[in-house]
Amino acid sequence: MKNIIAKALLLASTLMLALSMGCRAQVSRVIDLPDWDFSRDGQSWQPVRVPHDWAISGPFDKKWDLQMVAIEQNGETEKTEKSGRSGALPWIGKGYYRMRLALPKGYKRAVLVFDGAMSEPVVSVNGREAGRWAYGYNAFRIDITPFVKFGSKDNLVEVHLNNREESSRWYPGGGLYRPVHVELYGDAAFSPWDTYVRTLSATRDEAQVEVSALLQGNMGKRGYTVVSLADAEGRVVAADTLQGNAPQFQTTLRVAEPRLWSPESPTLYRLSLARYEGRRLVDVQTVKTGIRTISVSREHGFQLNGVSRKIKGVCLHHDLGPLGAAENKAALIRQIKMMKAMGCDAIRTAHNMPSTMQMELCDSLGMMVMAESFDMWVYPKCKNGYARFFEEWGDRDITNLVKHHRNHPSIIMWSIGNEIPEQWSKEGVAIARRLQDLCHQYDPSRPVTQGMDRAEESLASGFAQVMDVPGFNYRVHKYYNNMAQLPQGFLLGSETASTVSSRGVYKFPVRVGAHNNNPYPDGQCSSYDTEYCSWSNLPDDDWQMQDDHSWVIGEFVWTGYDYLGEPTPYDTYWPSRSSYFGICDLAGLPKDRYYMYRAHWNGRVHTTHLLPHWNWSGREGEPTPVYCYTDGVEGELFVNGKSQGRVRKDPTSRLDRYRLRWNDVRYEPGEIRVVTYNQYGEKVGEDCRRTAGEPSQIRLEVDCPDHVSTAVACLVEGCDHNHDASLNADGHDLAFITVSMLDADGNECPLADDELTFEVSGAGEFKAACNGDATSIESFTQPRMRLFSGKLVLIVQSLKQAGKVTVRVRSAARNIEKTVTLRVG
Ligand code: GAL
Repeated sequence: MKNIIAKALLLASTLMLALSMGCRAQVSRVIDLPDWDFSRDGQSWQPVRVPHDWAISGPFDKKWDLQMVAIEQNGETEKTEKSGRSGALPWIGKGYYRMRLALPKGYKRAVLVFDGAMSEPVVSVNGREAGRWAYGYNAFRIDITPFVKFGSKDNLVEVHLNNREESSRWYPGGGLYRPVHVELYGDAAFSPWDTYVRTLSATRDEAQVEVSALLQGNMGKRGYTVVSLADAEGRVVAADTLQGNAPQFQTTLRVAEPRLWSPESPTLYRLSLARYEGRRLVDVQTVKTGIRTISVSREHGFQLNGVSRKIKGVCLHHDLGPLGAAENKAALIRQIKMMKAMGCDAIRTAHNMPSTMQMELCDSLGMMVMAESFDMWVYPKCKNGYARFFEEWGDRDITNLVKHHRNHPSIIMWSIGNEIPEQWSKEGVAIARRLQDLCHQYDPSRPVTQGMDRAEESLASGFAQVMDVPGFNYRVHKYYNNMAQLPQGFLLGSETASTVSSRGVYKFPVRVGAHNNNPYPDGQCSSYDTEYCSWSNLPDDDWQMQDDHSWVIGEFVWTGYDYLGEPTPYDTYWPSRSSYFGICDLAGLPKDRYYMYRAHWNGRVHTTHLLPHWNWSGREGEPTPVYCYTDGVEGELFVNGKSQGRVRKDPTSRLDRYRLRWNDVRYEPGEIRVVTYNQYGEKVGEDCRRTAGEPSQIRLEVDCPDHVSTAVACLVEGCDHNHDASLNADGHDLAFITVSMLDADGNECPLADDELTFEVSGAGEFKAACNGDATSIESFTQPRMRLFSGKLVLIVQSLKQAGKVTVRVRSAARNIEKTVTLRVG
């Protein structure tokens, strides 16, 4: 062992030496390309920073995406007018981007890499078409060598995009919404997507990590490759030297006492490939990766590193609420951290390819991923959807997905589709087999799944039996029947719940069951969390199946966050332009349901959360049910100090197994308070809601997600704590400021709907605001917005200069305001 380490260290230091020897001119290099000019009509142009979403500033209008359709998936047979189905934002149509690309001398090849471009991108360089792609969600590479001049600052790159109407079931955004970069190569270079790292086995004592790679270009005569793996502290833990000039190579590294990747301990390693010609370093490639094993079996269900665990997952669409589809690191970190704090350990990238940044963050923050691909294959779900491309592009899209992302330890399975209409057909079975085989070809280490919604048909055709992991969307009551026919011996709730709610809104009497269209006149859904769609169910129903049956290997809840578009059950109601399914709202604020999942999923913290709010003027004496979400088993509720009795969870009851409910409480203003207890009668926690008086002060709570030392709530003026929160002076870091209206005693005002205005000055700028109201057509990008259920989120972006940002939030009607200062550095 000592010998191996000594040898590895020697090789690694040789690499360092070579890097410092000044032979780097031809070593491959990556240059980010954030600065572009943009036009919708090809006539008037404006400078933009990529990632960029051309549609997010609106204005909201139902004319943008009005449709006369029957949503077959939802069981509709008659066409009706659908508004807001894809966000009611102007994403449809063409868009043009162009930039002048400077290419230094000394390189032999240049490749443009797009992490996604919405959609149908056609890329031209110096006036000639260099390549194209069809799907808006996939990463693709275009070799532009034949079209460019090295040593010129003036290579014209143009990207034409085209979004057709009725091409999406949700808001896809428009434009270069994910990063673009150019890779420059010298004589010989590692082909980025051909480097593949996988853990063959891993125990506490040793892991075997297989590395394969492909060299392209002129190999030379005295070539050799040094492969080394370094831990997070930069220590080389395994290495190998491969002699020879074969372009393709493979080796297995042995790592002693590996630190295994998991959501709880997301340890990463850095793989380096260094190609030498004699003493000259020709190319070097580094890949961040992790060591971990995954398996799924009848005996043990899903296992990570040999330990069985139920997947506690959420489905997420790609939009970032008020930021639209434009990718942003701080926003993604906020999303992931919030889900982790709930106890969630996995994300399904519904229903398309994830971005590189999202996967890197899932790797480093510890979040497992089901990386999905398609919402349709041959048969369309909407007129101009991906079905137009599947036959020509399907295999290429899967190939890119897998080759691009397979080194991320966070990805635990690939998904080849969501509710594919042809799940009943022989043709569907053949396609499923082909796509699954393709995934295995490029990545034998992960199982493949897909979400099926027609259980009987997919089992009758053999479609479900083909899959490594049979995934079923909803219809938990069919799980028993499914299991009886599945040779795999387990199943996954690939999509669950679709419970609908609006943050802070409660409806009386409490209804339990499936919604019809437009259930309430105000376009909102009730936060008692008892209403769902005709095809779906309660969180409680999913948990019951998972808790009672080892063969259910986990779930992915629809959805972690509300998203733009698909405003079910208000598909025919205007204005309504975003979803109600989220555990958090579109602004990222937790709904009550967040605490329901946290109570069940997060075993590390106690949860005691009471609902509804207690401002029900006019309901005095009326039955006003009170619910509590807790990890405790029992609770006692008090209304103005009077006990309403102790309630205990009841494992035999659908609604009382996971919730504490007091259904007969009569409303009187004042205070409701709950005290919860565990099975030993020990106190778990307490929570209360108070009837708030007139709004009279504003509270600002700051979250800078990209900073470990974020001080939530500590930046409020007058606060004595150290002001740790700060932003990077990089022009895209974000602070998320939760704005709440309070009464004079500091109680939250749950009904406040004041219009607030925002002024941001100094080293930052106003970026967006969102209140989570699915029926609001106020622009996200204007510095004013109404509170919804007493809250909204204001987003501030750093400039590229250090300094201070001052943020002032004001209610003109009440003549109150609050200011907070952030540091940018
Ligand atoms: C599913 C579908 C999702 C979403 C959801 C709403 O059937 O896979 O994309 O439409 O329904 O409940």
